[in-house]
Amino acid sequence: MLIKNKGAIEKMHMAGQHLAQILHNVADKVVAGTTTLDLDALIEQEIVSRGLKPACKGYAGYRHATCISVNDVIVHGIPSKENILKCGDFVKIDVTASYKSYCADMTRYFFVGQTSEVVQRLAATAQRALDAAIDVAVPGNKLSDISACVQEIVERDGFSVVKVFSGHGIGKNLHEEPDIPNYGKPGKGIVLREGMAFAIEPMITERSCDVVVMADGWTAKTADGGLAAHVEDTIIVRSGKAQILTRL
Ligand code: MF3
Ligand code: CO
Ligand code: CO
Repeated sequence: MLIKNKGAIEKMHMAGQHLAQILHNVADKVVAGTTTLDLDALIEQEIVSRGLKPACKGYAGYRHATCISVNDVIVHGIPSKENILKCGDFVKIDVTASYKSYCADMTRYFFVGQTSEVVQRLAATAQRALDAAIDVAVPGNKLSDISACVQEIVERDGFSVVKVFSGHGIGKNLHEEPDIPNYGKPGKGIVLREGMAFAIEPMITERSCDVVVMADGWTAKTADGGLAAHVEDTIIVRSGKAQILTRL
């Protein structure tokens, strides 16, 4: 179902607002010495105590509420007690939750202490690409206008977009049609209509966009060891300006 009804959107909005609060509150916990498993446990606890379900848990056999990806890890970093954050780390927390079976999906980045200038630039580009892509998500535009917008902004800044992972439709399922790549020519794909629900998520790299997946079957890193950024919001296509479910 591409177009969501009012009831579905209200539930997704509830999930999104809780997630936004949870990630807002977690910011001051993303500090040197904390492990990514500590952060995952904290976030899962918050999700459950607010009456939501962690939608990643059990998804394709995944065992955690969050994916926490540090530095050269692009996406799907598995929370681990071995992964102790240190000063200078660039941390991306991706979290999904459902309220009354309707999902929201969001990713935010965090800096541990002082980070390098390139981390700051990469993060800012990813955020700018997401914001611009959301602005394109209005009725009458084509799906690939979103993709082309992300690619243009990222490449103009001298960075690369990851090709092997995409944004997606979202609703009762975390991943629904359509796929929303972060690259491509504008003017292609479905015509956007009011009420469509999308998770838009630029995944970008410092240098090459080549990806390697670790032996755990999840952790996706840059092949060349360069840094990667990721940011994500769940939105509803609306005339004038999309409704962002995952921002307060
Ligand atoms: N939240 C991710 C996304 O943005 C999906 C994570 S896959 C999982 O699409 F298995 F880890 F849940
Ligand atoms: Co996500
Ligand atoms: Co997503």
